[in-house]
Amino acid sequence: MTKQTTNYGNWVSTKLIYGSAVLGALFLGLSFLHVAFVIGAVPFLAALVYFAYARYAFSPRGGDIQTKLWELVLDRLNWNGKGKALDIGCGNGPLTIALAQRHPDGHVTGIDYWGKAWDYSKAVCERNAEAAGVAERTDFQKASASALPFEDGFFDAAISNFVFHEVSDAKDKREVVKEALRVIKKGGHFAFQDLFLVKELYGEVDDLLEIIRGWGIAEVAFMDTSSSGFIPTALKLPFMVGKVGIIYGTK
Ligand SMILES: C[S@@+](CC[C@H](N)C(=O)[O-])C[C@H]1O[C@@H](n2cnc3c(N)ncnc32)[C@H](O)[C@@H]1O
Repeated sequence: MTKQTTNYGNWVSTKLIYGSAVLGALFLGLSFLHVAFVIGAVPFLAALVYFAYARYAFSPRGGDIQTKLWELVLDRLNWNGKGKALDIGCGNGPLTIALAQRHPDGHVTGIDYWGKAWDYSKAVCERNAEAAGVAERTDFQKASASALPFEDGFFDAAISNFVFHEVSDAKDKREVVKEALRVIKKGGHFAFQDLFLVKELYGEVDDLLEIIRGWGIAEVAFMDTSSSGFIPTALKLPFMVGKVGIIYGTK
């Protein structure tokens, strides 16, 4: 019998890499018409090299930056593992599964809308949970982070990684944070990693923490993870992981 292995995918999707390659090749192909097309190809070829490097650095074969950032989220979650937890925008399920593995008495639900922009799916989540031996204590549902299909206070804990800024139907990304906090019970715990240092998305971090306290959250703190020593300088661009941080605490 072949041993099942997990496939957590990569934050740099193959679509991004192939898209850059196709556009670069297209411009180069048109260069017989005019030499200016060669110049037009340069940004796409540069993007191709950059995204291919980033994909490698995020992967286990490269610097394993994804796994290291996932662990920072899990380490900030002060949950005792009793009851139910939610992973918002679970992708292929790495955090859902790792959280279930850390807490043998808990149940973890992963939700995602599994849009076309990513190489993730519910079927892969379920296969990964099976391979990791936590299928009985995890479940995966299609849902949007902007309108979670759970009543107020349903979960004992919630986590999310690198999702809130992606939620296209929420103009103000702070509303996505509020929606995530809504489904946690009073006294429950949370740890959310996102581009919290991008002021255009969230404003100043201190102001964001004040706003969150104003929603009746008992304890909230911020950890700047973008300055983690394991992140290579080349990945510290604002649209990669140069502006990430974790908001964590107790409701
Ligand atoms: C960078 S990936 C992160 C996936 C996973 N959390 C991880 O760390 O590997 C962003 C994820 O956000 C999900 N996403 C984007 N918009 C969403 C929405 N409105 N509701 C739920 N998930 C969403 C995408 O499908 C994708 O899985």
